[in-house]
Amino acid sequence: MKSPKSIFTCTECGHTTTKWYGKCPSCGEWNTMEEGDAPIEAAVSSTAAKIKRITPEYESDAIAFDDLELPSFIRSTTGMGELDRVLGGGLVHGSVVLLAGEPGIGKSTLLLQISSSLCRGEGGERKVLYISGEESQGQLKLRAKRLGVGGKGLYVLTETNVRRIMTQCDKVKPDVIIVDSVQTMYDEHVASAPGSITQVRESALAFISKAKNEGISVIMVGHVNKEGGIAGPKVLEHMVDAVLYFEGEKLRSYRIIRAIKNRFGSTNEIGMFEMSDEGLVEVANPSETLLAGRPVGVSGNCAVCVMEGTRPIIAEVQALVTQTSYPSPRRTSNGIDYNRMCLILAVLEKRLGYRFSINDAYLNVIGGLHIDEPAADLAVAMALISSIKDEAVADDLIAIGEIGLAGECRAVQNFEQRVSEAVRLGFRKIIVPARNLELREKAGKKMKFDGVEIVPVKSIFDRINWTGGEK
Ligand code: TYD
Ligand code: MG
Repeated sequence: MKSPKSIFTCTECGHTTTKWYGKCPSCGEWNTMEEGDAPIEAAVSSTAAKIKRITPEYESDAIAFDDLELPSFIRSTTGMGELDRVLGGGLVHGSVVLLAGEPGIGKSTLLLQISSSLCRGEGGERKVLYISGEESQGQLKLRAKRLGVGGKGLYVLTETNVRRIMTQCDKVKPDVIIVDSVQTMYDEHVASAPGSITQVRESALAFISKAKNEGISVIMVGHVNKEGGIAGPKVLEHMVDAVLYFEGEKLRSYRIIRAIKNRFGSTNEIGMFEMSDEGLVEVANPSETLLAGRPVGVSGNCAVCVMEGTRPIIAEVQALVTQTSYPSPRRTSNGIDYNRMCLILAVLEKRLGYRFSINDAYLNVIGGLHIDEPAADLAVAMALISSIKDEAVADDLIAIGEIGLAGECRAVQNFEQRVSEAVRLGFRKIIVPARNLELREKAGKKMKFDGVEIVPVKSIFDRINWTGGEK
């Protein structure tokens, strides 16, 4: 067979073909196939060989499952409890973490701050090499000064050539390498333009094999594309041990970090930060922060309690219902699943007769939180009803519960934790699913808090004064 002269590589997913396609056959993106001249076999086999090299060697004999030993991970605290939580209890030695986020969200700031605490480390000092391919030494110093960052073990390298970086690594012998960002790195021996998919993949592989061969922890910054995915080959996400997303609205100060993948911990914990003049500050008490300065006595607002990992977090749902001037009413939802919103609107319309179909409805969750739990249904319903009736929900009222299609109010998970958090934050009227209370009573547990009224509801037909919680 004749060997192909050029190959086409998708800039989104890294898929290679011998023919040009308008639409990538692998990921379905349009206009992403770019021509390159490396012979396909060589490219594929070199990547395969590298992946093989970085995979730890396993014993080849089968072993009884009961005889397996628990791995012991050595972790270092990053000095930021919120980040440690998302990592599963600290940065694992020899692990590779990909930190993704939009430009300007604060990735470099966060990493500079943790470099400093890693090398001043409580759990033993660690040598950190911060590699910046985006900023000059002067810019770094300026920022570091503002953040109060520094320390004996912190080294900085402004370089994008991977081979030169590796030489420096061998000189400095760091325990932690920070790569800001992987998209700016290139290997001069790879015949592909810097920033291309091949370069990103090859550079990432170089750092990953460094981590695996020498037990160095590597944190790589990854840019996201306009759809919010990590720019570069999808394979990047498969090659690293953990993928963290740094999110938030640039104009607001809150930032949330969450794990999309984590080989050394769970993926449902979040960490919360606030961007200040002195860099990122941990928010240890998210509920208090999210509720601070909430409007008082305004219709359309209701407090909601969601579980983020093991933590209950209280936020506020805001609804605005106004008469529509369109043939079909508008629905906009920010922070709540759009389909869930439509479902709740339909239930309220059908079962309680509210005329949402002639009204536009807008929903918003304060603080950039994304709620994907049915336990928020009741609060969403109350916010919508409060807005359509233009009656404010009491400020010390919170609603917890899932709504079924028949209008029934279903029990929620982590009931005690949610109620305790609501009580701790000063809520005095808590609307809860009756079923949760029944379950508790069966288990012989009573739920009583001084000065707190717990209102059980079986369904949305219960004659609740929706804005006051009384029968
Ligand atoms: P940066 O860490 O450069 O973002 P990224 O690396 O994700 O692109 O953060 C840039 C923004 O953060 C910038 O708009 C200014 C703001 N910022 C502060 O508000 N306070 C600070 O102390 C610092 C260092 C940055
Ligand atoms: Mg940056």
